Amino acid sequence: MTRHFLRDDDLDPEQQARVLELAARLKASPYAEKPLAGPRTVAVLFDKPTLRTQASFASGIAELGGFPMIIDGSLAQVGVRESVSDTARVLGRQAWVVVWRTHEQSRLEEMARHAGVPVVNALTDEFHPCQALADLLTIREHRGALAGKRLTFVGDSACNMGHSYLLAGATAGMHVRVSGPKAYRPDPTVLARAQEIAATTGGSAEYVADPVEAATGADVLATDTWLSMGREAESAVRADVFAPWQLNTTLLAAAADDAIVLHCLPAYRGKEITAEVIDGPQSVVWDEAENRRHVQKAVIAWLLEEPPAALAGAAEVVS
Ligand code: NVA
Repeated sequence: MTRHFLRDDDLDPEQQARVLELAARLKASPYAEKPLAGPRTVAVLFDKPTLRTQASFASGIAELGGFPMIIDGSLAQVGVRESVSDTARVLGRQAWVVVWRTHEQSRLEEMARHAGVPVVNALTDEFHPCQALADLLTIREHRGALAGKRLTFVGDSACNMGHSYLLAGATAGMHVRVSGPKAYRPDPTVLARAQEIAATTGGSAEYVADPVEAATGADVLATDTWLSMGREAESAVRADVFAPWQLNTTLLAAAADDAIVLHCLPAYRGKEITAEVIDGPQSVVWDEAENRRHVQKAVIAWLLEEPPAALAGAAEVVS
């Protein structure tokens, strides 16, 4: 069966640990695995702005021996000029993997239903699982074993990062707290799913309204923009509503003394995080940004462990 990575819980705890292990190995030895040797093409399609995602997928795919075919979504106009399902069928005949940054998760699911090759979520409105994996790798590097660690996210808990921290953190056996204004609580079905996973891994997942309570004792404090891509028009309203959830030195003081700070970037200093914190000694955001490449390579290698049915014959051509 063709594997996909559409949301964080597409990796069970054992698979997630294996992918993180491989990512660490590929970080130490970038050319150790060449599942895309040929080179095999990976289609990387963007319906929203990008910097880290395009750069890290392009360099990572090259390191795996493959070719990144970057497609500008404003030209492809998926769902406007051509249906998602027709686009999927076309890309599945040209690429070994399809990586897509788009809007609704349902579009990505539709792509996965019709592509015949693995599909990777490079951010949707609902989830950002590649980023969450990069964050887990970063925590592992700086704080060791993930299980039992306390991870607190402050800000827009209803956004992709809030959701992905819940699912990915619970899968890793972490104690995840998300905190933000009540109007921006996580989707209850995502929170319930995280709690269901946490019950099997020894972790926990909860929404805590008060930011100081949520941050107290945390090993990891994370935040994200208050204005996810597509929400720019809500700038003025959100700045006021989210102000108490700013990641600043007061909040950091509530966390463990050796807490690390994560931000998926782009960051808006003086809004969701202060310059003192993101540029301070507890911030590991540059390691976090680099780790996108390593985890995404490991995800692609994991996906291709199961050869996509549509391309099974092609394996003989390149091997
Ligand atoms: N929540 C942010 C993440 C950016 C990487 C957004 O969707 O814009």
